[in-house]
Amino acid sequence: MADAPYPELKKTHTMAHKGRPWTDYKPPPAAPVWGVIQGLGSYHLLLAALELDVFDTLERMGPTTVGLVATELGLSEPHLQALLDSLVALGLLEQFRSVYGLNDTARRYLTSDGEASMVGLVPVAPGPHDNWERLADTVRHGRPATPIDDDPAAFYVPLVEGTFTTMFRAASRADTLVRYSSLAAPKILDLGAGGAPWSIAVLKACPDATAVVNDLPGVLGVAERMTKENGVADRCEFLPGDFHEVEFGEGTFDLVALGHVCRTEGEAGARHLVERAYSALRPGGRVMVADYFVDPERKFNPHAVLMGMTMMASTVNGFPLTGEQMAGWLREVGFEAVRLIEPIGFQFTYVATRPC
Ligand SMILES: C[S@@+](CC[C@H](N)C(=O)[O-])C[C@H]1O[C@@H](n2cnc3c(N)ncnc32)[C@H](O)[C@@H]1O
Repeated sequence: MADAPYPELKKTHTMAHKGRPWTDYKPPPAAPVWGVIQGLGSYHLLLAALELDVFDTLERMGPTTVGLVATELGLSEPHLQALLDSLVALGLLEQFRSVYGLNDTARRYLTSDGEASMVGLVPVAPGPHDNWERLADTVRHGRPATPIDDDPAAFYVPLVEGTFTTMFRAASRADTLVRYSSLAAPKILDLGAGGAPWSIAVLKACPDATAVVNDLPGVLGVAERMTKENGVADRCEFLPGDFHEVEFGEGTFDLVALGHVCRTEGEAGARHLVERAYSALRPGGRVMVADYFVDPERKFNPHAVLMGMTMMASTVNGFPLTGEQMAGWLREVGFEAVRLIEPIGFQFTYVATRPC
């Protein structure tokens, strides 16, 4: 049957003529495919704009013409104009005739001093870019060619520096739902702490709190620096080593943070971390497991599906985890009062209590 010349509904193709169809005769638009194709270019546009300092320059200069920005940055004016127009098309800048300026999104997320700056995160968030180009091979062989497990510090140091602002906001806001600030002198164990956003949030909220901050030896320096910058390093014990093996006082902690550490570990590894958290807690203590949890049907939370996929593309064991899996492990291990909170948009955290 010849294809319809235009992707519009023909009168003869309506349900009145055809009955309820399983598929529509109207050709579907190609927009989803173009959206994916242009995803590559869109990402590189943003990378280039950040590398060229476009957002910080527009913040400093205010709304301005492309010519002045090109002169200020020493760039080719027509090429810069094409870049800026593309950023406008992506909703990342404002434009009126030849004048360009920051919009609210750019000001908040794409300037170095933005309240929720993602400037450091953008280049590293997808993981090593090469692994995406070799994704078909990863699916063929069941393992990425160069997993970040081979050199975790090279990947995690810039990642945890880039994610700190977001995770710190989530960990701080979590207090409105967890009320850790009402604990007198809580002890927190932070496994795979990165920049230690969970420890820092608790230590800042509770002047007598202490933390045991764990990460791999090559990454732990980030936590040391961030806790120092936040004035809480003197209440931290730094514990280098693999979170599956390091030793810590069992049954002594009031809080355990597992912040975005389970998605890389696979089912057995994630469950093992939940078990370790349980054994670290005193009766009545609580675990906080932050991650991008996929819904039971693995399709209603695309952000979580794709964040899980990012881990599959670049780690040996990483896969998307469902909320159902995590809640199941928490209960099987013995936790009770399992609940899911969303301290800030798209950052979900399971909170569960070790029974008294
Ligand atoms: C995605 S980051 C999360 C950092 C931090 N918890 C947060 O919520 O922002 C994962 C962290 O786990 C650490 N990590 C990965 N494998 C580890 C292991 N086997 N033992 C200890 N830390 C590990 C990484 O170095 C990294 O800092």
